[in-house]
Amino acid sequence: MATVLLLAVAAGDLTDTTLQSPKESPPTPSAQRADLQQLEQQARAFLQQYDREAARRLNDYELAAWAYDSNLTEHNQQQKLKASAALAAFSKKQWRRATAFPWQEFSDPETRRQLKKLAVLGTAALPPPRYDEVSHNHELPLAWYD
Ligand SMILES: *[C@@H]1O[C@H](CO)[C@@H](O)[C@H](O)[C@H]1NC(C)=O
Repeated sequence: MATVLLLAVAAGDLTDTTLQSPKESPPTPSAQRADLQQLEQQARAFLQQYDREAARRLNDYELAAWAYDSNLTEHNQQQKLKASAALAAFSKKQWRRATAFPWQEFSDPETRRQLKKLAVLGTAALPPPRYDEVSHNHELPLAWYD
């Protein structure tokens, strides 16, 4: 949690610098550049962890959804709703972490692309209250996940 807050503060600082000079890159103090490199490294680690965990949690959800869809018991429905809520909570938390990074400033295009996808499309991810509606049909709750 502390890390996320620190990242949010750092992101704010860097964004302000960018806004002052949107066209040409101003002479960045080397300390700030080092901070940015460190943040980019943290972002890459975050994305790797995200990929693994998202795949696992999506799989958990799909298994629970399949169990219910092929065997309509009260218990299986509860399991599916639980898996759906867990996935929603995970997505929301990861979206918060993704948007805390100043990804627009990162040098690696792939890191920028992945964070942009998470940060921009992540807002379209359904918040937990809407998951119950969605879980009544076959659609995955994460429309933006591919
Ligand atoms: C259906 O699910 C219940 C649990 O809710 C389980 O006890 C039962 O064995 C399942 N039936 C089949 C055919 O898989």
